[in-house]
Amino acid sequence: MNARDIALVRESHAWVAPVADQAAAQFYDRVFERAPSVATLFRGDMAQQGARLMAMIGAAVGLLDDMDKLNGVLVELGRRHVGYGVQPGHYEVVGGALLDTLAAALGPAFTADHRLAWAALYGHVSRTMQAPSTVAA
Ligand code: HEM
Repeated sequence: MNARDIALVRESHAWVAPVADQAAAQFYDRVFERAPSVATLFRGDMAQQGARLMAMIGAAVGLLDDMDKLNGVLVELGRRHVGYGVQPGHYEVVGGALLDTLAAALGPAFTADHRLAWAALYGHVSRTMQAPSTVAA
């Protein structure tokens, strides 16, 4: 991710905070609509899971200036996801649902450039979670 992508992600991430609970709920609705089998992987309370997801996204956005630290967190997160039964194909579904949720929640303020910047962030996060040794910061 370049400095402009980081700035675009940070700017639009700040806009999500007031609508984070709704956005998280809509995000899981989208994921389960597109990949119904994924619903069976989640055992806990979905509101709590949504809060965890939002906290993790916030942590990643905060650590974009410290890629080594971010990547270490993501490698561990990715290992735990193997244990949750997450398959490689799920990452694409989740990424598409995330971008569409941001676009719906933020409206026209969320431009094509914001979307590309988030796609770059998600690409980095999902690649590092799945294949840590092959990813460049
Ligand atoms: C790529 C970005 C993703 C992020 C940032 C993320 C974040 C998280 C976080 C923070 C947790 C809480 C538990 C922990 O820290 O280990 C979690 C749990 C979980 N995630 Fe993800 N996740 C991502 C992708 C996915 C994908 C692609 C799936 C596939 C469907 C998935 C399914 C799950 C499941 C099943 C749990 C456990 C829920 C439970 O215990 O009931 N995640 N995720």
